[in-house]
Amino acid sequence: MRVSTYLESDLASKISREAERHGHQVVRKFRKRKELLSGLPASATDVLITGAGPDRLDFELLSLSDRSGISIVGLSAGPIDRRNAMNLGLNEVIDAVASWPEIQALLAPGEFGAVKDVHSDSSAAGGGPAQGRVIAVWGPAGAPGRTTVAISVAAELAAAGSTVALIDADTHSGSVAPCLGLLDEAPGLAAACRLAATDSLNAQELERISETYSSANGSFRVLTGLGRPRRWPELSAERVGKVIDACSAWVDFTIIDTGFSFEQDEEISSDLMVPRRNAATISSLESADAIIEVGAGDPVGLSRFLRAHVDLIEAFNAGSIVTVINKVRASAIGANPGGQVERTLQRFGGISRPHLIPFDHSALDAALISGRTLLDAAPRSQVRGSMSRLAAELGQSMLSRRAG
Ligand SMILES: Nc1ncnc2c1ncn2[C@@H]1O[C@H](COP(=O)(O)OP(=O)(O)OP(=O)(O)O)[C@@H](O)[C@H]1O
Ligand SMILES: [Mg+2]
Repeated sequence: MRVSTYLESDLASKISREAERHGHQVVRKFRKRKELLSGLPASATDVLITGAGPDRLDFELLSLSDRSGISIVGLSAGPIDRRNAMNLGLNEVIDAVASWPEIQALLAPGEFGAVKDVHSDSSAAGGGPAQGRVIAVWGPAGAPGRTTVAISVAAELAAAGSTVALIDADTHSGSVAPCLGLLDEAPGLAAACRLAATDSLNAQELERISETYSSANGSFRVLTGLGRPRRWPELSAERVGKVIDACSAWVDFTIIDTGFSFEQDEEISSDLMVPRRNAATISSLESADAIIEVGAGDPVGLSRFLRAHVDLIEAFNAGSIVTVINKVRASAIGANPGGQVERTLQRFGGISRPHLIPFDHSALDAALISGRTLLDAAPRSQVRGSMSRLAAELGQSMLSRRAG
């Protein structure tokens, strides 16, 4: 393996000596940033060992390494360095005093012969490609409940015995991690995208960078979203597409919580390389075997939903589109709210048999306050019952389509 360093000189010498002692070649010891940015791509480096602090490690360096197919390991001298690396989505961080074998153990196993710490509890990860199904959960602006539905469907499918990954691809208001009480300091999806960019994302890496929502009812994996939405340029369409492909070879069901917008206004830009904020949502909707479209069951929510529905079916060609109207309640729409919703959808959208989910403030708050799913926090609530039926129907129809 060809190693370069971007470290203080004492540390650079120590690491270089150790790398060489373990049979690796040290190609460059970069000292100045300018020299690094201009020299790294052509340096024939496999792995760059850099300080993990903000003075050395930043988005520009990560992007350059991604584009050049170079792996990065960050050496941390303390919590500020570690936090900087985590904020950037770099998971390969280790204390500056680490030995060479410890550094090498962080690198991709297939590439450099190192063995990683992987969980062995996922049936899909160990065997051959699972060829899982992908469900994107989408809905218009106005917080109709995309995240709630995505989490609930993931939990119900996991409880039914499937392996499940939940991806937070909402580049405007990602919220899966806080809803599930998970850390979102190091966004799992951004880390997956970085690995996908160098074609090094596989089941083992997904095991490592995803977080686990653990439950006696059924655990599932989560690729957390961007805590800081300004990082959206990292989630390009191509990268997100590759992450979804890798997930479908990893688990039975990949559930994606998307943003509200798939507008492509940026397309009028003549620069095709310009990043697009809605790229992650568009890529998710394009890759999905099924799309769950979620609307809110009040007059404003329904009219927004009906307008957006037309755009959705024009733009995307998913195997199936399932309509969910959430937060259905008489106080917002009148007596017999389910009937009202059904008639409105039929009359103005030609949509029949929507899944109706009742409004249930206390069940949702019980889930939010405990950072648990509805299945765990309010298993006997009506809203959970509706989510369970939705997941069962969708799961069965997708599995039978695969069998047929
Ligand atoms: N059936 C329901 N009954 C009562 N409250 C609900 C229901 N579904 C969702 N909520 C609440 O509505 C709020 C918005 O839900 P959620 O975050 O799932 O929406 P979203 O469409 O993902 O919104 P955002 O645009 O923020 O991503 C949350 O506080 C959630 O707890
Ligand atoms: Mg959301």
